[in-house]
Amino acid sequence: MANIGIYVGSSTGITMQIAEQIQQALGEDHADLFDLEDDYMDFDEILEYDYLIFGCSTWGAGEVQFNWVEPLQDLANEKPDFTGKTIALFGAGDCKDHGEQFVSALGVLYDIFTERGASFIAPFPTDGYSFEYSKAVRDGKFVGFPFDQVNEKDKTPDRLKQWLEILQEELEAVAAD
Ligand SMILES: Cc1cc2nc3c(=O)[nH]c(=O)nc-3n(C[C@H](O)[C@H](O)[C@H](O)COP(=O)(O)O)c2cc1C
Repeated sequence: MANIGIYVGSSTGITMQIAEQIQQALGEDHADLFDLEDDYMDFDEILEYDYLIFGCSTWGAGEVQFNWVEPLQDLANEKPDFTGKTIALFGAGDCKDHGEQFVSALGVLYDIFTERGASFIAPFPTDGYSFEYSKAVRDGKFVGFPFDQVNEKDKTPDRLKQWLEILQEELEAVAAD
């Protein structure tokens, strides 16, 4: 088993495509990739990883992607302990048609898992993004890596590269602690 678990909810495959690139960058020996739609069982499995990367696109009006709904219900009922777990977030959104809640699902996950004791790494600067509001912005930064394949597909490769550098650096720092 790898020491990083990547769990993804993605309706049209956009977030999953980026998840695959993240897994490749970290190395398949280090990171296991799961599609919540097919692979979600329970939190016991998720908690086997000390490092977690959660992918979630935003739907509705700032809501988590559908396949996150059941895990979040289980979380609310069972209240698993995420103390000592390190989480990084990423997810797709649409800054034009849904700029009033751009990638807000990342903020929803951030709040829920913070309450369960998790620590977060790899926030991302808001520089170069244009949107009205996002629940995912805290202290002037996104809580994870947001990307927009609808309007800004051309910007994603550079942004991803930048985020992967931050992610790998911060993963190493946590591991060295
Ligand atoms: C009905 C609908 C609602 C959406 N709501 C939001 C939203 O609130 N915020 C946002 O940033 N993007 C929103 N989006 C855009 C999706 O997140 C975007 O299309 C994304 O690429 C889907 O990624 P996925 O294939 O990984 O699920 C919405 C899209 C649709 C069709």
